[in-house]
Amino acid sequence: MSIDTKALADKYGTPLYVYDFDYIENRYTTLKEAFAGKKSIINYAVKANSNLSVIAYLAKLGAGADCVSIGEVQRALTAGVSKYKIIFSGVGKRDDEIRAALEHDILLLNLESEAEMKRVEMVAKELGKEARISIRVNPNIDPQTHPYISTGLHENKFGVELDMAKRMYIYANKSEFLNPVGIHFHIGSQLTKLSPIKEACGIVADLVRSLKAINIDIKFFDVGGGIGVVYDEEVTISAKEYTQVIFEMTKGLDLTLLCEPGRYMVANAGIFLTKVLYEKNNGGKRFVIVDGAMNDLIRPSLYNAYHKIEAVGVEGAKEYENTPADVVGPVCESGDFFGKDVPLPPLEHNDLLMIHSAGAYGFTMASNYNTRAKAAEVAVQAGKDRLIRQRETYEDQVRLELEYLEK
Ligand code: LLP
Repeated sequence: MSIDTKALADKYGTPLYVYDFDYIENRYTTLKEAFAGKKSIINYAVKANSNLSVIAYLAKLGAGADCVSIGEVQRALTAGVSKYKIIFSGVGKRDDEIRAALEHDILLLNLESEAEMKRVEMVAKELGKEARISIRVNPNIDPQTHPYISTGLHENKFGVELDMAKRMYIYANKSEFLNPVGIHFHIGSQLTKLSPIKEACGIVADLVRSLKAINIDIKFFDVGGGIGVVYDEEVTISAKEYTQVIFEMTKGLDLTLLCEPGRYMVANAGIFLTKVLYEKNNGGKRFVIVDGAMNDLIRPSLYNAYHKIEAVGVEGAKEYENTPADVVGPVCESGDFFGKDVPLPPLEHNDLLMIHSAGAYGFTMASNYNTRAKAAEVAVQAGKDRLIRQRETYEDQVRLELEYLEK
């Protein structure tokens, strides 16, 4: 992105998340256009970046929301997403979450077990409502991605087997309080290959055909999220290739196609800015210690994920002067790093580092570990910047504890 990162760091302080809204718009439009000619809804996966302004921006473009807690549903509603474009997934929904979702009359509740279906039926009965549901099918496909973000194998906790799904549809179809209108799968995240998506689509589309044959009329076909993005030099899936595979496998079926991209929409819209505090050498190993930490961006620590790291505008920096350094934060854990052996020029106090591809699963996975305040978030749009979340304060962090303090 062509953003004056130094000016933003000076204006808002560091550590700082910055999101390019023009990039987000471009991603949404590209994907939506790839669905041209078909009924479709892009249900942005709020978990990737749940800042209200991000959701609101996508809602204005026409996006729906894929939510995984009632809190995310509330965020989507607050941000102005139409209730008929909100879906609520997740392996374990509490009764109060089910009740609230039914009261809000959102598009679909995605069910992930028979027990959950019975619970939803019970709550719907209490409310005198018919719950629109879809069932998450686990097609037992290896998505060929990181094991922590693979979800479509029987060994993963997600969804139900095909036979069970069919039995659940038959039950739901007979129930006065359930209306089975959707089908759902999500085989994993950061998918860079088309074949697992194609295979899963084929399996689930066949199930839809067999359900239609017994007069269970599935209207919404939800392929989940997972389109991979470029962090390093990955070759990934284009929007066109993605939709073509979906069209091919659902041929002849009258369906509204749903998808739930998170990372695709926002990962490369975001950067994380952090300032150098110190440099040091331990037994010949170079460390660059910065003011951001694993509590701000945990992906490197948690998944050993690669995020490109760049020094911004370091005076007179020459590439040949670069030497490998571990970029680490101040948190009391050896796992607190952003990158290992990153080639960087000699750095000084207050020099700025830019960590790329931080728009997805960055801020949303942040914590207050070590009583570190969460970073501020800034949006950049048409060359203008604006704050979309204040930097947290110490007072914000202790607010829910102070009144119980006994000295
Ligand atoms: N739909 C469902 C049901 C999901 O479980 C997920 C992600 C998505 C959609 C969105 O997937 P995406 O398009 O973003 O790949 N924290 C991990 C990623 C966890 C993804 C969990 N589910 C990371 O930082 O890589």
